[in-house]
Amino acid sequence: MDIDTSMKNAFHAAGKSIVLIGFMGVGKTAVGTALKDILEVDLVDSDVIIEKEAGKSIARIFAEDGEEAFRKLEQKTILNILSNGAPVILSTGGGAFLNDDVRAIILKNSTSVWLQASKETIFERTETDLNQYGIKRPKIHVVEGTQTPTTLEQRKEIIASLLEERSSIYAECAYSVDTEAGNAEENAKSLLNKLYNLPRPQ
Ligand code: S3P
Repeated sequence: MDIDTSMKNAFHAAGKSIVLIGFMGVGKTAVGTALKDILEVDLVDSDVIIEKEAGKSIARIFAEDGEEAFRKLEQKTILNILSNGAPVILSTGGGAFLNDDVRAIILKNSTSVWLQASKETIFERTETDLNQYGIKRPKIHVVEGTQTPTTLEQRKEIIASLLEERSSIYAECAYSVDTEAGNAEENAKSLLNKLYNLPRPQ
């Protein structure tokens, strides 16, 4: 049996969603897409669902309705995904796992994986997302409670302090994978090897 088929079989035998946790810019979407391609299962992104249901971007939800309103939508969305339906790959927003109810259901019902990267890499990736793809992340790119854009220095400081604040909570995940070195496909495969103890390909 080839290794991809073994991975698919192991995922279905485990019968649990794989939930990707971690800071903004660690590569949850990229690794999630690679997992979806390897395992041929659905990739669900809680931020995408929230944007579709609200009919506006995350940045606009934060600006018009506030972070608390966003967190309520996030909680409802994730609880809903994990309490019914077939196992999927779920990519969560970087703050989702900090919510006690969200964390509890993820730890109980799914295989949780913390994706890690350094603060320098996170800064570079989130700047690229902003400048090349227009992805504005309100926690990093605007001064809290205002619509004033942050300076580059402020962004570095915000990333460093939020990362420090959140890491011990992310560490409650069952598994962790460093996304610093490999590409998304390599990271997805090393994650599946860890999860299912598969033999390395010869
Ligand atoms: C957030 C992360 C974002 C998004 C929102 C808040 C956070 O998702 O949910 O802007 O608090 O870390 P990504 O981690 O996909 O960027």
